[in-house]
Amino acid sequence: MPAVVVVGTQWGDEGKGKATDQLGQDVDYVVKFNGGNNAGHTVVIDGEKFAFHLLPAGVLTPGVVPIIGNGVVVDLEVLFNEIAEIEARGKDASSLRISANAHIIPSYNRVLDRTTERFLGARQLGTTGRGIGPTYADKMNRVGIRVQDLFDESILRQKVHSALDQKNGLFLKVFNRPAIDPDEVADELLSYAERVRSMVIDCSLVLNDALDAGKTVLFEAGQATMLDIDHGTYPFVTSSNPTAGGACTGTGVGPTRIDSVVGVVKAYTTRVGEGPFPTELLDDMGERLRTEGGEFGVTTGRPRRCGWHDAVVTRYACRVNGLTDLVMTKLDVLTGHATIPVCVAYDVDGERTEEMPLTQTGFHHAKPIYEELPGWSEDITGVREFSDLPQAAQDYVLRIEELARTRISAIGVGAGREATITRHKLLG
Ligand code: GDP
Ligand code: IMO
Ligand code: MG
Repeated sequence: MPAVVVVGTQWGDEGKGKATDQLGQDVDYVVKFNGGNNAGHTVVIDGEKFAFHLLPAGVLTPGVVPIIGNGVVVDLEVLFNEIAEIEARGKDASSLRISANAHIIPSYNRVLDRTTERFLGARQLGTTGRGIGPTYADKMNRVGIRVQDLFDESILRQKVHSALDQKNGLFLKVFNRPAIDPDEVADELLSYAERVRSMVIDCSLVLNDALDAGKTVLFEAGQATMLDIDHGTYPFVTSSNPTAGGACTGTGVGPTRIDSVVGVVKAYTTRVGEGPFPTELLDDMGERLRTEGGEFGVTTGRPRRCGWHDAVVTRYACRVNGLTDLVMTKLDVLTGHATIPVCVAYDVDGERTEEMPLTQTGFHHAKPIYEELPGWSEDITGVREFSDLPQAAQDYVLRIEELARTRISAIGVGAGREATITRHKLLG
């Protein structure tokens, strides 16, 4: 299995970091293909916790080449802080590579992101405020700054000037803020140029050569299917394509080279930020899931909204990503409930549907139709064989597998690298 894509199937924070780290034990390259430091991916090794925003989770595995693909947006200050942080903890990030075509998040886009959110008031999206949306907008508007621009000072200055020509008008006239000095921005970006130079690669060439040589490449998504700009709950989404197709456009590897697509799915559902969430629990049960699941954002620290498993969303994610396998995480968090509801369909204005409603209005009106499954009370955190799980826990997994119409190949029963039940090998 030389090329494997790992994506999130819900609204993020499914445990992609753990899955990537685990699969990364058997691969040669781990490449991030979308998003930026809006992501927060947690890896726990021997009780030691690492939280990654920009660095691919593979950076902790000796011998793996971690790559930041062209589809990622890079905040250089965050990147170097993150490298310094892991180096201070005795890890080596010297093999990190970065695509010449990746876009940079300039400081003015962080300001724009936060100012726009404040301006929207009650209609805000609840972004992470990291400048993600404005930077992807600049990319599409063809006024973005790329990593390669750091190596041509006069081009870089021209580009920053032309981007700020428009944005300063907005800052001054619409947002009533001071203008930003383009030369100060360019100077700051240029201060990183020499450190970035040795990391820069042609991502497409490196990865295709690696695949030709029989190497194994893991593609790590940020965010998730329901936050996808095309397939998610627009406009309450991020500004990139975290779905499987994004792995191709975000790295320069063609779809014919991808062998499998693994979707990470939480045993229940969470969401951070605004937007519709049919199975959300606004009562004590939601609070219980948040507490028992430790559901607080890795990036912003915000409490995550929590709810029961939504199998309509999971099946939808299987379809739009062409998933070959699911990895279910956090089954251990569901221990101790008498029964566990699973959403099997929606009631949309009096009509039952088992598919995602066609329109945003339909999804806003969707009310979950639940099936109650028996719970279990035994501690399952030490279980490593599927057959050793309590029967009710096995049945829970099997029912979601049936509803998703996709096999669940691994099950997480704890945050640690080792706390996993494998049912089908994902690599090899
Ligand atoms: P990501 O953004 O998809 O990488 O996920 P996050 O790291 O934001 O959030 C997932 C959280 O769940 C992290 O704190 C992980 O350490 C933790 N986690 C992952 N898998 C499991 C699991 O199977 N059981 C438990 N209890 N925690 C897990
Ligand atoms: P990982 O990779 C959960 C959400 C934000 C907000 C919306 C848009 O850890 O799963 P943005 O800053 O991207 O413009 O915000 O997307 N969001 C995430 N939610 N996990 C993430 O990443 C997220 N990245 C963005 O909360 O609702
Ligand atoms: Mg996360």
